[in-house]
Amino acid sequence: MKKILTTLAAVLLSLCLCVGLAACGGDSTVTPSGDVLVVYFSASGNTGRIANYIAEITGGTTFEIEPVVPYTSADLRWTDSSSCVVQEHNDPNRNVELTTTQVENWDSYETVFIGYPIWWQEASWVVDNFVKDNDFTGKTVIPFCTSSSSGLGKSGELLAEMAGTGDWKEGKRFSSSASKSDVEEWIALK
Ligand SMILES: Cc1cc2nc3c(=O)[nH]c(=O)nc-3n(C[C@H](O)[C@H](O)[C@H](O)COP(=O)(O)O)c2cc1C
Repeated sequence: MKKILTTLAAVLLSLCLCVGLAACGGDSTVTPSGDVLVVYFSASGNTGRIANYIAEITGGTTFEIEPVVPYTSADLRWTDSSSCVVQEHNDPNRNVELTTTQVENWDSYETVFIGYPIWWQEASWVVDNFVKDNDFTGKTVIPFCTSSSSGLGKSGELLAEMAGTGDWKEGKRFSSSASKSDVEEWIALK
């Protein structure tokens, strides 16, 4: 009887694990091809760290999206209704001017990773002008983000719509404190 119960428990446990994994949509990998560019915006360093890991792993080149007016830590207080980010979030016409949206040798890159922090369950709008200003035709584009707890959501899809060009992949969300080995697990080199 005890043996039957143990076997039953083991079967139930493996069923739960399978359902759990399916619910998460599995954890697929990406395989970059050609020359790799890793574009990112990072307000407090987390996405930048992941971008650098991706560049190290793929042998890619990084490009940081930089606002003309950098965000201070007071600007980033998203629970303070008078802070810069809250005002921008409430402004449908927000338009963050960037130092540049032009990447040297843009045409030479076949794979473009694009990274951003999640702000209010979406991609930080700081990347918008970069996405609008560039032609992704012929490129594979792989979004990635960091967040405290929110998922990637529709952030990649919305950027793909904004770009209108490029073969955009599903992408990946990392926790704010993700490690290099988390990134290594995601990238399957050829
Ligand atoms: C304005 C703002 C809004 C945020 N909104 C969310 C959110 O909706 N969900 C979440 O999980 N984290 C949210 N966060 C936390 C960031 O996504 C997280 O700290 C991220 O790793 C920051 O990346 P960075 O260091 O590259 O800027 C928010 C942070 C800020 C500053």
